[in-house]
Amino acid sequence: MNINRRTFLKAGLGAAFGACMPSIFTSSGFAGSEKKVREFHFSASAAKVNLGIDPEFVAWTYNGQVPGPEIRVREGEIIRVVLKNYLPEGTTIHWHGIPVQNAMDGVPGITQAAVKPGDTFVYEFEAKPAGSFIYHSHAKYQLDQGLYGPLVIEPSNSGESYDREYTLMLEDWVMKDGGGVAQTQRRSSMGHGMMGGMMRPRMDFGPEDGPLLEPVYDGYAVNGMGYPAIRPLEVKKGDKVRLRLLNSSSSTIYYLRLAGHSLTITHLDSNPIQPVETDVLRIGMGERYDVKFTADNPGNWFLAASEEGFGESGLRVPVRYLGVIQKEAQMPTFDRSLRFATYEDFRALHPAKEDPAAEERIFSQTLSGGMHSPFWTINGQVYPDADPLIVRNGERVKLSYSNHSMMPHPMHLHGHFFKVVNPALPRELWISKDTLIVDHMQRIEIEFIADNPGKWFHHCHNLYHMEAGMANVVVCQG
Ligand code: C2O
Ligand code: CU
Repeated sequence: MNINRRTFLKAGLGAAFGACMPSIFTSSGFAGSEKKVREFHFSASAAKVNLGIDPEFVAWTYNGQVPGPEIRVREGEIIRVVLKNYLPEGTTIHWHGIPVQNAMDGVPGITQAAVKPGDTFVYEFEAKPAGSFIYHSHAKYQLDQGLYGPLVIEPSNSGESYDREYTLMLEDWVMKDGGGVAQTQRRSSMGHGMMGGMMRPRMDFGPEDGPLLEPVYDGYAVNGMGYPAIRPLEVKKGDKVRLRLLNSSSSTIYYLRLAGHSLTITHLDSNPIQPVETDVLRIGMGERYDVKFTADNPGNWFLAASEEGFGESGLRVPVRYLGVIQKEAQMPTFDRSLRFATYEDFRALHPAKEDPAAEERIFSQTLSGGMHSPFWTINGQVYPDADPLIVRNGERVKLSYSNHSMMPHPMHLHGHFFKVVNPALPRELWISKDTLIVDHMQRIEIEFIADNPGKWFHHCHNLYHMEAGMANVVVCQG
């Protein structure tokens, strides 16, 4: 049987969808001012999905599609999303990267109760700041089941203009059933790693029973389509092209390259930086990179992931020049001579003015796990049995990471952007992000002003690490 691991999702299939996301314009007195409200209707439900690479399977979706519909609004508008839950379990939506008010942050058990099957919940928040974001479910393993989508906030001023713009969501999937890939081995919650040894179908997962082993991904897609089914991005010679790269994968970090072109990175996690030209960029789960390139090399090229297996499995998009007759697109090559931009290469575009005198509170965050344990931990603790980081509103907070595990961890903080400490640079040039890959044996610090009262989840954006304990809560006391 050749099924997808997501085929366990049967209930809810065929449930009536709500109205399919017409965006209606109304006016509201949100925050005491007249702002334009952009309303979207999302039905979370099971639906058949076809990535264009066999087989077809059932995923969990917003409005029957994977990824969910693109939300595209202007900075300062009010986003209102009416979520109706047709799934057989509770769900939420988290607005990854947007510093919303705590009650709108969409983390079950922390900022709201999960929206029960059959129930409706209305999210409403100001679209701010401009940039590229991801929305996704924050309940259990639902992100991996298809519940995510792109969110683009256009700047209120006109911003830089482009001839073409594409939003590309990078996705990892399990396509084969061979060797138990479509099933997942549950790690023993008794603390003895993979000793349990029982293969179980995904349908009976649940955090109560201990975390799940990460599945082996063998299918990659961009905007819900794998190669060769995916439609090429079309460009014209001379075009200035912008790509918004969003990594909504559950556990894959990509190294990307566009054959025949260099890419200029302009934004990290929505924050503008001094442009950096590169051949290869690395994008972790939850990260967003805005890049631009000039279409100055007519032909038929692939934007593709470099690591072995990824490109072959579908993480590639043809970039085709209009009017060029050339059937076969060319794959990028990867070697050591290429420029490969890293965090140290980036500098903030608009040097931030902050009060350096604000008191500083420091937390060390040691990341470990994975080796002889089913758990992934911060300071040896397994969420929810993890000490909260308690801070006062207005305080300067520093998190000092050191990664003692064998894996890289894209650490994500809700409700705030943070500065990445770079001792080689003046503080004004430190970049702002909301997700940062902390590599094996790396020590790195982030700093932020706790200015958004509430309880903010802080965790590794590898879904399987998060669900296996690598998380805690920053409590900002108002
Ligand atoms: Cu993408 Cu806790 O989030
Ligand atoms: Cu991790």
